[in-house]
Formats: sequence, C-alpha cells, structure tokens
Amino acid sequence: GREWTEISALETQHSGQSVLIRGVAQTIRPVSKKMAFLVLRQYMSTVQCVLSVDKESVSPQMVKFATALSKESIVDIQGIVSVPKDPIKGTTQQVEVQIKKLYCVNRSVPNLPINIEDAARSEKEIEKAEQTGEQFVRVGQDTRLNYRVLDIRTPANQAIFRIQCHVEDVFRRFLRSEGFVGIHTPKLIAGSSEGGAAVFKLDYKGQPACLAQSPQLYKQMAICGGFGRVFEVGSVFRAEDSYTHRHLCEFVGLDVEMEIKEHYFEVCDIVDHLFVAMFDDLNENCKTELDGINKQYPFEPLKYLRKTLRLNFQEGIQMLKEAGVEVDPLGDLNTEAERKLGRLVREKYDTDFYILCRYPLAVRPFYTMPCYDDPAYSNSFDVFIRGEEIISGAQRVHLPELLTTRAEACGIEVKTISSYIDSFRYGAPPHGGFGVGLERVVMLFCALNNIRKTSLFPRDPQRLVP
Ligand code: 4AD
Repeated sequence: GREWTEISALETQHSGQSVLIRGVAQTIRPVSKKMAFLVLRQYMSTVQCVLSVDKESVSPQMVKFATALSKESIVDIQGIVSVPKDPIKGTTQQVEVQIKKLYCVNRSVPNLPINIEDAARSEKEIEKAEQTGEQFVRVGQDTRLNYRVLDIRTPANQAIFRIQCHVEDVFRRFLRSEGFVGIHTPKLIAGSSEGGAAVFKLDYKGQPACLAQSPQLYKQMAICGGFGRVFEVGSVFRAEDSYTHRHLCEFVGLDVEMEIKEHYFEVCDIVDHLFVAMFDDLNENCKTELDGINKQYPFEPLKYLRKTLRLNFQEGIQMLKEAGVEVDPLGDLNTEAERKLGRLVREKYDTDFYILCRYPLAVRPFYTMPCYDDPAYSNSFDVFIRGEEIISGAQRVHLPELLTTRAEACGIEVKTISSYIDSFRYGAPPHGGFGVGLERVVMLFCALNNIRKTSLFPRDPQRLVP
C-alpha cells in the first residue's frame, strides 16, 4: 500500500512534501467559488487543508463538491504540506495541506444531532459564547450519551479513553513484574459474591443464577488453587438502585488477590507502589491526553506522596470530630463524610491520595478478616482519590469454620457458596487483596464530575442503549 501520514505527525519539517491523509471533515468553509478551507480531524489532532483552484489538479467543480460535503464525513486527501506566514488558530497542527486530490470515503448525514465543536467547548468557552451572542448549542449529558459515537469524537473524550487504556496497561505491567498471574473468573455464577441485593438475576438453563458483582470468591479460590498472586481485569455487574455520579450497573473491575506472609499491610504496599507508579506513568507518558482533557474540563493535577499516607479509620473519625463532623465510630462513612475527610487530609498531609485502614467489621463483607486484637474492627482498607473511594481491600478469612460463621452472621445462604467455603478445607494460605473501579480511577485522577464520562457506553439504572 501507499504511505499514509497521521495528522498528528504533520510537522513544519514536512513542508513541500506530498502527503496522503485520512480524516473527518470537521469544518468546511467556502471562501469563494475558487477556494475553500477544510479542517480535517483524526483522533485528537486537526489540520487545516486549503482547496484552491489551479491549472493542474483543482477545478471549480472540486471546490463545489467539497463545500457540499457534510460535516463529519470521512475524507481522503492528497496534498502538499506548507507552512503559513501567520500561526494557525484553532487547529492542533501548525502546517497546512494544499489539497491536490480529495475523495469522500463515506458521507455523514447533513443534520448531525451533535455538533462536535459545540460538544468540545469548555464551560469558560460556553460562557464567552453566551456573552458574545455566538451561535452554538449546549450539549447536555443525555444527548451526549444518546449519540455517544459522535460525543466520543471530541478531543477530551478521545483523551479519556486513551488514559483509561493506559491505566489498564500499567496495572497489568506492574503486577506481572511483581509475579502476579492474570486470570479470568466466571461472570455467570450461582450466588451473589458481595452479599446484598444489588445483583442481576437470571435463569441459567433452569437454575437460578446471577451476574458476578465481583471476582471476589473465584479470585480467592485461585489462591486456594496455589497461584500465590493473581489479578483480573473484567466486567463487574451491580444492579444499583441509586442514580449517582459515581455508580454504574456495569463497570470494569481491576482485581488483585495475593498470599500474605505476615501482615495485611503487604497488600497495602502493593496498592501504594502500583498507584504511585501509575500516577507517575500517566503524568510522564500521557501529557497530550491530559492537556486535551484539561482544555475542556480544567483540573488541578493530583497531589500524591512518594510513600502513600495510611491512616486508621479511628484517626479519620477523630479528624472529622475535631472539624465538627460526628460520625458513628462503628459505622461506615457516607459520601459527604468521605469528601470532608479528603479535604482535611489534603490540608494536613498535602495529598489527594491515601489509604484508610482498619474499618469496623460490621460495615465490611462477610469474607473480611476481623482484627486479631479487636474483632469490632477488621484487617481492611479503602483507598481514596480527592475524597472519593476508588478501592476497597482486605485480608480474607481463610479458616472455613470462621468463614461459615461470618457468612451466616451476614445473612448469606451458606449452601449457595458451599464450594467456595470448601476451598478453604484443603490447606489455604492467609491472603488478601483489593478491587479497583477503572472508571473511577480515570474520573478522579482527572477530577471529572461524572463516571458516565469515563465509561465508553455507560450502563446505569436508566440506560441500556446505546
Ligand atoms: O467496594 P467494592 O464493592 O469491593 C469489592 O468488590 C471487593 N470484592 C473488592 C475486594 O477485593 N475486597 O468494589 C471495589 C471498587 C470500588 O472501590 C469502586 O472503585 C468500584 O469498585 N465500584 C464501582 N464503580 C462503578 N460503579 C459501581 N456501582 C461501583 N461499585 C464499586
């Protein structure tokens, strides 16, 4: 085949060269019957292309054809790169392409439900447009999600999903380098894996079944099976009732489970090293993407320490108390209290990322190990970014009798998980692990206000299409 150039690769050093590019016609601006400007977009990059009638290749008919193209049509162009005298405004690339040949690969409909340039505006730009009386349409969340294939063409959205891919990639690479084995556990299971009502029930050839709320039970069984250290990247299903900015009915779970030698802090160490490596990597290798998001949704870079701060739940409660917020010392923190504590931690320790350990046992799932010194508490932790939870983790109960008692105490029908409990009867090592919500990590690293922004085709209590 011939050589195609990516729009992002078009640089001033290509001046005078002939290039072949494919892009989406973002704007088409006729100047006269003999001249038109096209802005072509590819992923996060745009370039201005000039169509000007000449003797050899460009006819007035070609200009007419080009100006009749609808926005978002797919276009191939062969042209010569040139560097204009004045800097170009509104495109990412600082060169122009003088069009010699133009071919429409596939047309878009003329009346788009979303104008990409409108969808890409920041709040500040919207305000400015409102003041100057410029014509534009504010694109609401529902419209965006209804026409998601158009919505995800904006540079910020292109960036969000590239960052998501990067997070997943660092997760895998880091864990593999630490001796973890990637596994896949079933998503069709007989009973709930986290307890509670938030399960999607279904019929499995006449047997009652449900979609896995997490890989929890099976990743532990992999540890019973002798793998030592495992991780999984997979879909997780929660029949959430509440419609919030941070809950989806389907999300991507990044799960870890590992043998513990002496203390569950070994699990916290993995969280610490993994996430510091991940944040470093994102800041180092995703500059273009972070800039792209920042342009539309400005945010402060995440503050994190070289060694991640660990606080005890009781210390957190105390900090809240001193700030005038009373919370139940044996209860869970609500969203408000978590946010407040996030702000207090930031003021005191200068970090947006920390681990809160030793939660009350009563608010943790049945499989959580009680503290050896005080069974009202547990060997468990949550991890927060900017005051919102991204991870929960713990040491697990590896003793079958205690596990049975705990399951019964939590109202779980033991016979639905008997094969899980039996797994601990054949010699099971002490172990622990954690689960991360991929969409939440991206949302909170970039301080986005809604988890739907970081799910390609979000599933929430009100949305099953597209
Ligand atoms: O806190 P969760 O429910 O914990 C578990 O699933 C355990 N099995 C983890 C473990 O290994 N102990 O979920 C883990 C993470 C949360 O911290 C959150 O980031 C994300 O999954 N999460 C959700 N993300 C989007 N929508 C939802 N409805 C979520 N529920 C949990």
